[in-house]
Amino acid sequence: MKILVLTGSPRKGGNSSTLADNFIKGAKEAGHHIERFDAAFKNVHPCIACNKCGMNGPCVFKDDFEFVRQHIVDADVVVFATPMYYFGFSAQLKAVIDRFYALNGQIHRPKKAVLLMTYADTSSHEAQPITLHYQTLINYLGWEDAGQVIAPGVWPVGAVEHTSYPAKAYELGKNIG
Ligand SMILES: Cc1cc2nc3c(=O)[nH]c(=O)nc-3n(C[C@H](O)[C@H](O)[C@H](O)COP(=O)(O)O)c2cc1C
Repeated sequence: MKILVLTGSPRKGGNSSTLADNFIKGAKEAGHHIERFDAAFKNVHPCIACNKCGMNGPCVFKDDFEFVRQHIVDADVVVFATPMYYFGFSAQLKAVIDRFYALNGQIHRPKKAVLLMTYADTSSHEAQPITLHYQTLINYLGWEDAGQVIAPGVWPVGAVEHTSYPAKAYELGKNIG
């Protein structure tokens, strides 16, 4: 399968990136083809609602989103890997999601999706805004949830490596299909 991994953290080697790395390792071992887009290290202009794309056409911005445009339409699985920022996706990842607008007509078709998310607090209640956003987004797009790894209680870079969550992300990647 073709898998597009979208990450949202600006921290190199950070917690959500580690989950993405592990997911990718498992998925590659299972023979899947991976494309990865680290949004925080790319130039993706936020959508300006000019509507020139008509929700199904070229965007006025010719920036790094072209990579996502190239790979998301044919992707069988789209992975969202993000830190929690004030109970939501990181702005870097959200900017990519908002740019889906120009592709809406082409990505509104069956796909699988995965959520990898890390946060510092330990209350599962606080993860709900992101999991609800994710589920509502994929329902709208007609995508099916293929699994989630939600890692609470991890703040500094490297914290997630002392937990079982990287192994869970690896297993999810290995068994995706
Ligand atoms: C701008 C910012 C906002 C954050 N907001 C939250 C939050 O609302 N709840 C929380 O538990 N942790 C919050 N955190 C902590 C991160 O979610 C946590 O450190 C996460 O593991 C970072 O993932 P990363 O290493 O992939 O960047 C925030 C961190 C930053 C820098």
